[in-house]
Amino acid sequence: MNKSLRTPLIAGNWKMNKTPAEAAALISELKPMVAECSSSTILLCVPFVDIDAAQKAACGSNINIGAENVHFADHGAYTGEISASMLTEMGVKYVIVGHSERRQYFGETDETVNLRARAALDAGMKPIICVGETLTQRDQGITAETVSLQTKIALSGVPAEQMKNVVIAYEPVWAIGTGRTATTAQAQEVCALIRDVIRGLYSGDIADAAVILYGGSMNAANAADLLAEPDVDGGLIGGASLKPIDFTVIAKAAEA
Ligand code: 13P
Repeated sequence: MNKSLRTPLIAGNWKMNKTPAEAAALISELKPMVAECSSSTILLCVPFVDIDAAQKAACGSNINIGAENVHFADHGAYTGEISASMLTEMGVKYVIVGHSERRQYFGETDETVNLRARAALDAGMKPIICVGETLTQRDQGITAETVSLQTKIALSGVPAEQMKNVVIAYEPVWAIGTGRTATTAQAQEVCALIRDVIRGLYSGDIADAAVILYGGSMNAANAADLLAEPDVDGGLIGGASLKPIDFTVIAKAAEA
């Protein structure tokens, strides 16, 4: 397996942080700092209302702006939701789907994650599909089963030709926002497992080309070691993506 087949993806997930004006200010500060990161894709997934301001601030730079969720219907009576066509009309190419906070606080299930991922793909976007076990599941020794099942259901009905647009993010729930990062061995083990699941569902070529991220307390101090693992193709970064210096250190670690 050749890691150089894949372009690293360094993706921030801002979650529910930053107003449009704050988003513009942060991106203006970050823009020159990551300007030389040319071998990876730099992405910030921001709150819906920040997308316009973020895109304007990032204009002419190598920073891509993505969204944090997408609904599976194209339109209709789904108060508070945003459809894929609304995002694509704004030029959004990446969208996070199935983040554990959506699963935990907003009742999203493997089935709705699958529907949302497929809606994103059908609209020509790249979903970043999040999977990961809780601490209880890890302690019960069912990490592999949990993550395999989540991955299989998320990809159900996704044709092989759309797999080039799929990104999977392994985010152990116990590592998110806790400062407790998975060890490099744990991150590698589960990212490799996800690649094996893709190999089983599709083919070796598709698995080798799939971009698989690690997320969960990735920071300036641990990013280089995590990103050096053979099956970790990038990061989905929460807290540290709100700090331009830290995010830049992570982005530069992916260049090495
Ligand atoms: P933290 O980096 O803040 O742990 O968040 C990770 C995450 O949930 C990214 O989607």
